[in-house]
Amino acid sequence: MHPIKKLLSKKDVNIIGMMSGTSLDGLDLSYCRISHNATRHGVKIIKTGYFRFDPVLKRNLQALVSEGRFTKSFIKQADDDLGQFYAASVKRFMKKFGIRPVDMLGCHGQTILHLDKRLSKSKTGRSATWQIGSSSRLASITGLPVVSDFRSADVALGGSGAPLTPLCHYHLFGQDDRNIAVLNIGGITNLTFLPEKSGRKKIRASDCGPGNMLVDQLTKMLFGRDYDKGGRIASTGVISKRLLGSLKRRTWFTGPHPKSLGREQFGADEAMRIIERGRRYGISNRDIITTVSELTVISVLNYIENLPAVDKLIVCGGGASNNYFMTRLSNLIPRCAVISSEEAGLDPDYVEAACFALLAALWVFGEPANLQAVTGASKQTLLGRLTLP
Ligand SMILES: Nc1ncnc2c1ncn2[C@@H]1O[C@H](COP(=O)(O)OP(=O)(O)O)[C@@H](O)[C@H]1O
Ligand SMILES: [Mg+2]
Repeated sequence: MHPIKKLLSKKDVNIIGMMSGTSLDGLDLSYCRISHNATRHGVKIIKTGYFRFDPVLKRNLQALVSEGRFTKSFIKQADDDLGQFYAASVKRFMKKFGIRPVDMLGCHGQTILHLDKRLSKSKTGRSATWQIGSSSRLASITGLPVVSDFRSADVALGGSGAPLTPLCHYHLFGQDDRNIAVLNIGGITNLTFLPEKSGRKKIRASDCGPGNMLVDQLTKMLFGRDYDKGGRIASTGVISKRLLGSLKRRTWFTGPHPKSLGREQFGADEAMRIIERGRRYGISNRDIITTVSELTVISVLNYIENLPAVDKLIVCGGGASNNYFMTRLSNLIPRCAVISSEEAGLDPDYVEAACFALLAALWVFGEPANLQAVTGASKQTLLGRLTLP
């Protein structure tokens, strides 16, 4: 029998979801059991793991995500090195916890380019997205089937290829009796709105703005730390209305939702521009961190204000550990409970990796996973490409 036949007939699948996001911190892994249901699929996260990028790989990836000229061999080498790193991480993860059985891997890959035509940045008039991390390498070293390259099919149908997690948020967090919003604060923030008493057709979602990406870079440049732990720096500074006002005039902020964003908007050059402007306005380093952290919060509000009233906001991603973000969201969104996904039973650091396990499961179940109202694609489609070992 062809190896894939048995897998396709399964109603319960065991998948390791793999996510390395725009923060470029490392790889998150969620080993999940996913059970097919008529409405919301069951997703149980059984084990989680995190592997930090080694410094050389991280430096090469950082170079690739910035604008620049690279040789073909440099890009191919990074693709291969990352595939090796992913595979080694999966093997260590499985060994450490004695994880089995594993039916397949769902691997997002590392985005090195993302252009959304709705923000009219793309010269071709089309959206473009590119994830690296060789799935052939990953499949051959682990001996497991891999579903990867989740975004390309949506882009081929005229969509932006992002965000893709809204349908996963529906399965993980949707409730029939409440308006729920799920906010992921990774490098970028994306928000999913799940209206009460309605199916997946009514889901709305968009990227909102920078999550940790700008604050991380500024904390590195101004304080020599990788990130603002707990949001402590931000919590002790003062917002500069002038700097915040100028950042709110950026096209990514004023442009209509839904949209998708990336390092193209919030890279090192933007961080440098913010520092220069802060100097000109006479703002302290601490106040720059507070102001840019506030920008993260305000860009979420900028979207949520246009949605029906949200009863509960569930926050996931590394930013759920930032108290400045959590407190300000709580203060600024009226009559809404702002909670970490931990309180809904899911570790905030591993929700996204679980989403990619679920997206791989949707591929197995033969269910389209993109939402036209979110990405702008002309139709729904199966997402992902299969690589066999
Ligand atoms: N304890 C913490 N306090 C504040 N911020 C944190 C903490 N832990 C992680 N983060 C932030 O979360 C980021 C990683 O978030 P993550 O969800 O992995 O993003 P991505 O999906 O882009 O990789 C880190 O770069 C950091 O900014
Ligand atoms: Mg990460």
